[in-house]
Amino acid sequence: MTNKEIVTRLYGVLTPYRSKLVIAMVGMVIVAGFNAAQAYMVKPLLDEIFVNKDKVLLNILPLALLAIFLVKGVFYFIYSYLLEWVGQCVIRDLRNRIYSHLNRLSLSFFHHTPTGELISRIVNDVTLLQGAVSHALIRILRDFVSVIGLLVVIFIMDWRLACMSMIFLPMAAAPIIIFGKKFRRVSTTYQKSVGEATNILHETIGGTRIVKAFCMEKQEEKRFAAQIQHLFDTLMKETKYRCLSHPMIEFMGGVGIALIIWFGGMQVLKGTSTMGSFMSFLAALIMLYEPVKGVSKINSTIQSGLAAATRIFELLDVPLEIVEKPDAIVLPPFHDTITFKDVSFSYEKNEPVLHRINLRIHRGEILAVVGPSGGGKTTLANLLPRFHDVDEGTLQVDGHDVRDLTLHSLRSQLALVTQQTILFNDTVRSNIAYGSRDCTEEDIHRAADAAFALDFIEQLPDGFGTVIGESGARLSGGQRQRISIARAILKDAPILVLDEATSALDTESERKVQKALENLMQNRTTLVIAHRLSTIKNADRIIVMQAGHLVEEGTHDQLLQAHGVYEGLHKMQYAD
Ligand SMILES: Nc1ncnc2c1ncn2[C@@H]1O[C@H](COP(=O)(O)OP(=O)(O)O)[C@@H](O)[C@H]1O
Ligand SMILES: [Mg+2]
Repeated sequence: MTNKEIVTRLYGVLTPYRSKLVIAMVGMVIVAGFNAAQAYMVKPLLDEIFVNKDKVLLNILPLALLAIFLVKGVFYFIYSYLLEWVGQCVIRDLRNRIYSHLNRLSLSFFHHTPTGELISRIVNDVTLLQGAVSHALIRILRDFVSVIGLLVVIFIMDWRLACMSMIFLPMAAAPIIIFGKKFRRVSTTYQKSVGEATNILHETIGGTRIVKAFCMEKQEEKRFAAQIQHLFDTLMKETKYRCLSHPMIEFMGGVGIALIIWFGGMQVLKGTSTMGSFMSFLAALIMLYEPVKGVSKINSTIQSGLAAATRIFELLDVPLEIVEKPDAIVLPPFHDTITFKDVSFSYEKNEPVLHRINLRIHRGEILAVVGPSGGGKTTLANLLPRFHDVDEGTLQVDGHDVRDLTLHSLRSQLALVTQQTILFNDTVRSNIAYGSRDCTEEDIHRAADAAFALDFIEQLPDGFGTVIGESGARLSGGQRQRISIARAILKDAPILVLDEATSALDTESERKVQKALENLMQNRTTLVIAHRLSTIKNADRIIVMQAGHLVEEGTHDQLLQAHGVYEGLHKMQYAD
């Protein structure tokens, strides 16, 4: 992304706050104008009061100065407050935009991008951009206006000297350009590094049990330390450039000012200029020099802000794979069939995971999907809520292609229970009611009861109000699973997808969960993926998936008689 593109897009983000920005800029121009006026007042001070001994002016000038400071102060408050406000608004808007974009991105994006890196973009990159927007850009604007005002003063006072200083001023800016590119590069490395460090934190804190169990603390510490060292090195590089650029700019400026003092002083001695003009000129020049020096300081902030903006816009530009058509229709309550017609799907190009699947699921049916792991069962189930889109063929619900439906109407008719329970660090009550907006306390109790979860929930210290820890860490596997079943029961969706919902459980809790699932399956259309064949004994029909192909289909007895893959799986599980 070029600077121009980034600035254009940032400008787009600023658009809603344009009127506030204009007010701020007017305030800024006024403040900068008064800055110039202060420099200008050095001339009457010296020439009229000290040289010509004008007493009246001596009474007026200090009062005028007070008035200038007062007005300047008021406008300073107005513009700096407004600019900070706009900067913070932009940051708030960007954070919300990134988060809502993330919520819409497809699953495959998350399979490719580490969570820690995404968190780092919302937290760190946006903060860096905030630095650039609310401090650096603002100062640049203010300094630019000040520079113009002060330039006017120096040209009025002595145009020849002014022309001379025009040669030195740009020279002082040379290091800014030289270091700019370096700042930008270092900053990109730094942000990437922060992303990786965040990711290590996210993974190892989340996986702390495995880290401990495999005695990997030392290795993880080394991995983290290496990343932090990299961060340190990068930061020190930036510090080196920043510390170098400041004295270099100051020295260049110093050379200029030294020459000007010499030439200007000569002119005053020769009598071609007054002391007042010269001092006023010098005051303006020194004041002029401040903003130029400032530019070098904020240059690094701006460069890292631009690098951060690039990363933020890149993320916002990741296309949404699963999008609703503009004329998407609302799926009426499910009443007939789900149809897979010649469905093929691949995660990576040219490596199909599903090959021309043909399948019909009728209303009220319990369809079991079995087969060796990696056969494509989960992938098949994930097509239903449109977590992925088919590559070829069609997937229809009641004759509507799922791609023609609104995502909300499709997904609200599905309840999903997976092997990996997803619970939030909230109360039992909120976890069960997740996604069911208008439910009463009674509904929640009834769902918990049907999920065989009421007993253990009532034994928790605060019952339904107990906070269950991150991912439900304070519950057992079976308890977690029953809470997620209660959630599905409460959602009361006509179509149910159970993806190895009991595989992670011991026999005792499996029996309870199995009963809970039977309650859940009543009067619903169910796609049940199971590892253990015992859990699918009440299925109406069974399909066998192997290496992405639907290889067998029928009832338990039919499949046993077919002497195929199913019989093999059956024999293996009941060997003893
Ligand atoms: N996000 C993914 N990206 C790439 N390949 C994947 C992804 N998820 C699953 N696969 C591959 O797709 C195949 C089917 O996986 P899956 O549907 O999970 O099988 P099952 O649920 O039957 O065990 C496997 O070979 C797996 O490696
Ligand atoms: Mg699976």
